[in-house]
Formats: sequence, C-alpha cells, structure tokens
Amino acid sequence: MTASTLLLDDITLTYPDGEGRLTALDAVSLTVDAGTVTACVGPSGSGKSSLLAVAATLVTPDSGRVVVAGTDTTGLGPAEKAALRRTRLGIVFQQPNLLPSLTAAEQLQVMAHLAGRRPRAARDHALELLAAVGLADQAHRRPHQLSGGQRQRVNIARALMNEPAVLLVDEPTSALDHERGAAILDLLLSLTRDRGTATVLVTHDRAHLERMDAVVTMADGRLGAARATAG
Ligand SMILES: Nc1ncnc2c1ncn2[C@@H]1O[C@H](COP(=O)(O)OP(=O)(O)OP(=O)(O)O)[C@@H](O)[C@H]1O
Ligand SMILES: [Mg+2]
Repeated sequence: MTASTLLLDDITLTYPDGEGRLTALDAVSLTVDAGTVTACVGPSGSGKSSLLAVAATLVTPDSGRVVVAGTDTTGLGPAEKAALRRTRLGIVFQQPNLLPSLTAAEQLQVMAHLAGRRPRAARDHALELLAAVGLADQAHRRPHQLSGGQRQRVNIARALMNEPAVLLVDEPTSALDHERGAAILDLLLSLTRDRGTATVLVTHDRAHLERMDAVVTMADGRLGAARATAG
C-alpha cells in the first residue's frame, strides 16, 4: 500500500490526576511504513508505553486519529477494535505473560484459534514461526523450561501469528543481558523486513539505534523530530 501502515495523527491523551489532568501524549504525530522499524526512546514516564497503548487501540486518546493498515479507528466500537487487534496488530509487552501450562507451539495456536483459523493450518504456521525465531527445537517446551530470551522469542512469534500489519513492541530486551538483547533486536529487524510489518520498538537500549529505520524521542509527552537513520 502507498499510505503509511501506521499513522498517528495529532494524538493527545490525558489521564485524571488529582484535581486536574496529566498530559501523557501532547499532539503526537507519527507515521511508520511497512517493512520498517521506528525506535522510540525517552526517559521513564515520558509517554512511550502510552503511545503504544494508543496505537494498539487499547487506550482511546482525547483527540487525534489512529489509522492502522488503512482503517481509521476513530469511532470504532470495542468489538471492532478487538477484531482489529486480533487481525492487524501484533503486540509484544515487556513481560512475555505466556500461559504456564501450554507448550511454545500451543501459545501460538491459541492466537489462531481466537481468530477463527483452522487448527491444522495453525499448527503448521506456529511451527514455521517458531523456526523463524530460532526455536524449532523448543516447540514442545513449556515456559518454565525456556530461558528468558527464549520466552521473549515465543512472545514475538505469538504476536506474529495472525500476520499483523503493525507490530508494537515495548522494551523487549529489558529483562535480558546485552547479548540476548542484541539478538532480539536483530530478530525484530529481520522479521519486520521479511514480513513487511510496520514496527514500533520502545527501547532503553541505545546500542543498536543506528540500525533502525528511524528513531524518535519522547520527552514529557511530546515526540521529538524523527531522525531517519542511514539504513
Ligand atoms: N493508567 C494511568 N493513569 C494515570 N496516569 C498514567 C497511567 N498510565 C501512565 N500514566 C502516566 O502517564 C505518563 C506516561 O507514562 P508511560 O507509561 O507512557 O511512560 P513510559 O515512557 O512508558 O515510562 P517507562 O519508561 O517507565 O515505561 C506518566 O506520567 C505516568 O505516570
Ligand atoms: Mg513504559
């Protein structure tokens, strides 16, 4: 498509705060194209997770528009937003919150089940994605049998299960050592290019920013001018 796959247009979000309101996002605009990663950095409390929550349609902004893969989400009801999340959005939070009793493959198959896909095709797709994140041999393992980095890989594979147009990732490396964190960022870059997702990556890890397609900085709810990187 020619239009940007994720478009945030002049988003303002406030939360109740005592007598007044706290402005978490202040006139934020961002566009992310298919097959690119935009990294979002900034101090704690600056609004990075709020930005992802709005992009994910989990939180409705006070004003502004969120357009996901050509669908303007303004005015969609809760059920329509939930359907959009299931089919067009992949969301990766910091903590993998995998279901303890399910194997890695089953964690992914649940997503396909929720989207009404056929079980046999879902199993094949789950195994293909686990292979893509380097876990072909671990498909039968449960979360307690996996390392932190492996669990985060399952988490990412799960977010890709329904072939999202937009992938939203919040601090995926914060619980990992430097080497494992770097491997996760590599993985996100290659998956984004292979699968053509529009990816937003919130990260504290400044070591790899030069490899991202763009870097934006949040400060006090405002988004600093996007810096396009060399490549
Ligand atoms: N549900 C909420 N209710 C009220 N205030 C909130 C809520 N969620 C976040 N905030 C406030 O909004 C601001 C932005 O929070 P946000 O979680 O987006 O920051 P962040 O950049 O993700 O921080 P961190 O790096 O610590 O994760 C903060 O001042 C926070 O206290
Ligand atoms: Mg956060």
